[in-house]
Amino acid sequence: MVTRREFLRLGAAASGALALEPCAAAGLGDGKNGRDGSALLKGEDDFHFVVVNDLHYRDAQCAPWFERVTASIRNLRPRPAFVMLAGDLSESGLSEQLGAVHEIFRVLPMPVHSVVGNHDCTEQGDFSVYRSIYGPVFNYQFHCGDWQFLAFDSTQGPEVFWTKISNDSLAWLDQVKPSLSRERPLVLLTHFPLGRNWLRPRNARLVMERLRGYNVQATLGGHWHGITEFAERGIHLSTNRCCSWWRTNHDGSPLKGYALCRVRGGKLTHEFQAVV
Ligand SMILES: [Fe+2]
Repeated sequence: MVTRREFLRLGAAASGALALEPCAAAGLGDGKNGRDGSALLKGEDDFHFVVVNDLHYRDAQCAPWFERVTASIRNLRPRPAFVMLAGDLSESGLSEQLGAVHEIFRVLPMPVHSVVGNHDCTEQGDFSVYRSIYGPVFNYQFHCGDWQFLAFDSTQGPEVFWTKISNDSLAWLDQVKPSLSRERPLVLLTHFPLGRNWLRPRNARLVMERLRGYNVQATLGGHWHGITEFAERGIHLSTNRCCSWWRTNHDGSPLKGYALCRVRGGKLTHEFQAVV
């Protein structure tokens, strides 16, 4: 069985514009998160998915919290088609942190994807542990039903403030664009916010400019640890509260959890789901 890491590596070798199979085909880990996890209804294009950002796994004290998080996700009905871990999976990019998150989330019965966050490396900017566990490819696309998703690396190493999206990520976007439908809905899943936010990368507008003319519905991100929602040119741009039991939110809320996203009738909505 081809693991996600191997799948990404093979795909990356074949083409920089990596397109994964529908949402159930690219589970994190060894492929146990199989197609039967898909929430897609036959003949319909309605589905749910979950975005978990800013987990900040620090040490073994975090494990019970994430067991509650995965239990909450597992109990969702209808079952989400996939889960996206949207950056800052770990506190400092260590194998015992990233490995623990991998082990805890891989038991979920649906694919678990990830995008990298600024905390998923060492202080020196070494992402080698993240790459070894979650795969060497930081930007990739997949689809679920009729919807197109871009897992997009918006970080700049371990930097937090006044960052810029890398030329590599922007070049990947240029490369992948021809393979995207201009008509089908498109969602960007990032760590750093792309909407109005003082933690937005300074060159975030270059992303949206590149995607002008495409049916971008939303960008869902984290990093700011708080709920923000804006609309620009009809695109919904949001961040969510963190999913770390020990980190604080910057919107003043003590609640921690994830975003439960619903695609219904061609529209995407989402709501914060607190984990208790
Ligand atoms: Fe964070």
